[in-house]
Amino acid sequence: MSVVIFDHPLIKHKVALLRDKHTHTNQFRELTEEITTLMAFEALNDIPTKEVSVTTPLETITQTVVVENSVAIIPILRAGLGMVNGIHTLLPTAKVGHIGMYRDHDTLQPKEYYCKLPEKINEKICIIIDPMLATGGSAVAAIDLLKKHGAKKIKLMNIIAAPVGIEAVQKAHPDVQIYVAQKDRCLNENGYILPGLGDAGDRIFGTK
Ligand code: PRP
Ligand code: URA
Repeated sequence: MSVVIFDHPLIKHKVALLRDKHTHTNQFRELTEEITTLMAFEALNDIPTKEVSVTTPLETITQTVVVENSVAIIPILRAGLGMVNGIHTLLPTAKVGHIGMYRDHDTLQPKEYYCKLPEKINEKICIIIDPMLATGGSAVAAIDLLKKHGAKKIKLMNIIAAPVGIEAVQKAHPDVQIYVAQKDRCLNENGYILPGLGDAGDRIFGTK
């Protein structure tokens, strides 16, 4: 599937602030949520809808609304947690599944340590969220895991992605639609995205 890379001045503006090393934790969290909401507006454009009857003060009409419970938000811990509210702003009743994954510092291979998903995951559109797509190892492993639990329709949303990470997900899971706020240049020798924004988890949770 193709990759959606956002070309919107508001998203670019907010990503610039997010990248800035002088942006502190509270603003970093706010920006992460805001960018996620802007991206989700597009990523959710094909969610199931139904027609209902609505009575305005003047008339009764048939109106389109979204089908509740058709989307599951799946943050990859830790940093993905920072994006959850950005989608809940639009879909307050969406269930959340958690996938715990961290990169081994030496091998850069993902290690899974937790998985708790909503019921009937096979019936939902699963939106995996993680601010960073670097080697792609964590995203590929998270998608593998979701598919093992029966998920059929999966989307991946990242704020910053390296070309190699996008390629890895496309190769392993060509059926997954990817949404990226900005595509960066490359990875450094430690697997960090350049120019990137540093360690997303540390910046969201203030651990460094
Ligand atoms: C970061 C990030 C992704 C992963 C991306 O998490 O949030 O999950 O790295 O790298 P990859 O594409 O090379 O797999 P990290 O492993 O630092 O864990 P943390 O969120 O717990 O800090
Ligand atoms: N994880 C991060 O938090 N930042 C990177 O640049 C790469 C992986």
